[in-house]
Amino acid sequence: MLVERLLTEATAIEQEVVAWRRYLHQHPELSFHEHKTADYIEKVLHSFPHLQISRPTPTSVMARLVGAQSGKVLAIRADIDALPIEEETDLQFTSQATGAMHACGHDGHTATVLGVAKVLSAHQAELAGEVRFIFQHAEELPPGGAREMIAAGVMENVDAIIGAHLQSPIEVGKVGVVAGPMLASPDIFNITIHGKGGHAAEPHTFIDSIAIGSQVVTNLQHLVSRYVKPTEPLVLSVTQFNAGFTHNVIPESATLGGTVRCLQPALREDIRKQMEQVVKGITEAHGATYEFSYQYGYAPLINDASITAVVAEAITDLYGADALYTIKPNMAADDFSAFLNCVPGTYFNIGAGNKEKGIVYPHHHPKFTIDEGALLIGMNVFLATTVKFLQNTN
Ligand code: NI
Repeated sequence: MLVERLLTEATAIEQEVVAWRRYLHQHPELSFHEHKTADYIEKVLHSFPHLQISRPTPTSVMARLVGAQSGKVLAIRADIDALPIEEETDLQFTSQATGAMHACGHDGHTATVLGVAKVLSAHQAELAGEVRFIFQHAEELPPGGAREMIAAGVMENVDAIIGAHLQSPIEVGKVGVVAGPMLASPDIFNITIHGKGGHAAEPHTFIDSIAIGSQVVTNLQHLVSRYVKPTEPLVLSVTQFNAGFTHNVIPESATLGGTVRCLQPALREDIRKQMEQVVKGITEAHGATYEFSYQYGYAPLINDASITAVVAEAITDLYGADALYTIKPNMAADDFSAFLNCVPGTYFNIGAGNKEKGIVYPHHHPKFTIDEGALLIGMNVFLATTVKFLQNTN
């Protein structure tokens, strides 16, 4: 069986994969600046046979492994960027870059997918179809790297895509999937309320932008609690409210800003319109005027049921039903959703925490790290899924 040989070879290169991860961890680069990271990935890929390697954008890398026989095209994505965080771990391979750290595990994603590429590239003669490795820049910074890579053509002729995120809150050994919505759209809004400023002793002669802004804040909460169905998750948080400069002046204007997050594309459009309606109604009622802007972030991440089932089967084949868990959707975001808007696919989670070893810090924390045992688990799930997907000719 091909899959058994692939798994044996993955185990054989585990330490090499760990070494790639540690090198990347020592040399983090921020979103859209992953020049040396992309050079390193390209260099490692060039040491494997049969790959067609390209740079779709200056800091991303793609490698195509076209099998000896024709068949379907499966893309595997790893994100490669780091975060603007000063590392505070006591690892032997801490970040050598000031103000940059792989604090989300993207170093592990990159190393895992490099390992998958190494194992599969040696078996080009036995493959029917194509495996396309996508090393994506700038997941952490909107507008994100995914859409640039898609514009550069990386998804042409792709039939399905899979990707994974390491998860430090989940113990190593567990692997999670979910069909349907998994992550939210992180949209941003800004509101300016223009009133009429003047002496605070004569409020009746002015238009108080702070009082009106406060009503806007509370009425926006009404949308969450009384407009949207209780079963449809929505976050609408005002996270900035700026106005005024001293005790005896009613300020001319107030500015508000915040985030809107939901799991359904249709709700996203609807809520933008309703928000503006609330702002318009309240400001007009009090004689003020407003400006409202709404920026769309990444799309909600929605997994395809049939590809999710293939990954779930791969996990249970490898590690048994106890290893598999169902991901609870949450309101964070990932621009893997951009690929899922092109083709069906699924994003799964690989447990990388280990309470006994003290690997307990959350993602984006200066002490974040992973249990490196998760890298081999990730490789195995990718390899087993790839074989299942390419052999299934329906
Ligand atoms: Ni991440």
